[in-house]
Amino acid sequence: MTVILAIESSCDETSVALIEDGHKILTNLVASQIKSHMRFGGVVPEVASRHHVEQISQLVNLALKEGKVNWKQIDAVAVTQGPGLVGALLVGVTAAKTLALIHNKPLIAVNHLAGHIYASQLQAPLQFPALALIVSGGHTELVYLENHLDFQVIGETQDDAVGEAYDKVGRILDLPYPAGKYLDQLAHQGQESYDVPRAMLHEDNLDFSFSGMKSAVMNLVHNAHQRGQTINQADLAASFQAAVVEILTSKVKTALEDHPNCQQFILAGGVAANSGLRAALTDLIQTNFSQIDLQIPPLSLCGDNAAMIGAVAYPMYLAKDFADLSINAIPSLDL
Ligand code: KG4
Ligand code: ZN
Repeated sequence: MTVILAIESSCDETSVALIEDGHKILTNLVASQIKSHMRFGGVVPEVASRHHVEQISQLVNLALKEGKVNWKQIDAVAVTQGPGLVGALLVGVTAAKTLALIHNKPLIAVNHLAGHIYASQLQAPLQFPALALIVSGGHTELVYLENHLDFQVIGETQDDAVGEAYDKVGRILDLPYPAGKYLDQLAHQGQESYDVPRAMLHEDNLDFSFSGMKSAVMNLVHNAHQRGQTINQADLAASFQAAVVEILTSKVKTALEDHPNCQQFILAGGVAANSGLRAALTDLIQTNFSQIDLQIPPLSLCGDNAAMIGAVAYPMYLAKDFADLSINAIPSLDL
């Protein structure tokens, strides 16, 4: 039995988890800072770092208490090294290095995007080859895995991440930050009646572009205001969501056709909470790829959390892929 204490602080959630053998959650505490950033309409890096500093020690102590684990039973300390906000990452990395040093445990440096993919391992074992779609506030990537920790990025956004586009469109519609959830809810009350372009839909690659779609929605709102017309917010949300879902689903279909040996498809990241996307991808797999195992983590594990970092750290622990205590945060770390 291997118990890993994992820390995540890459953006606006401070989280500490205890994970047994890479899949069993002993505890997964998440302190969200959303309320502090809401009034600014986005994450303020300095505010995020300060909150992480205030939270981290208490969360470590609370996790040990709630997980009913003492330091003798912990085998390693894992932490998100990147990508993310440098100040925010540094708080987690510094805490993890200190704990590893004091308690004489190996340190494991984890990529946050790998974490989003491995969130699915907290509900079912990974099956290889696997294809993962990571959709979050900072990333939109299609990743192919031949085996554990063997990440091949086969498609990615050329500009905005899909969550970022949701948040920016939500801001134009005066929805609270982060707007993805509210825009998703609004989309269900409307009809697709506005024309939102499907960027890169017919291009012969697996890349995405969301900034043009976001600008198209902004222009629709702006032009309507200038003409003194009102916009039907629910219809606009439905039209934007339909365009986003169509693009993501179409690229996943192409990727699965390109990789016929795929055993599992994983939807990962904060935008995996999107009901339209979940429904469309479930339908795609059931209809066209019924032999593929579909994994969509529960909502609580789609957003940023430390349990997913502990899940990646387990195969790294088995491979003795340990980090030196001199490591630093890497804000633009690639998969
Ligand atoms: O993975 P995550 O928690 O943080 C990052 O690593 O970015 O993702 C946060 C993103 C935000 O942009 C948020 O608006 C979006 O996920 N999001 C959604 C939904 N729930 C959260 N986007 C669309 N529909 C949702 N239901
Ligand atoms: Zn994330």
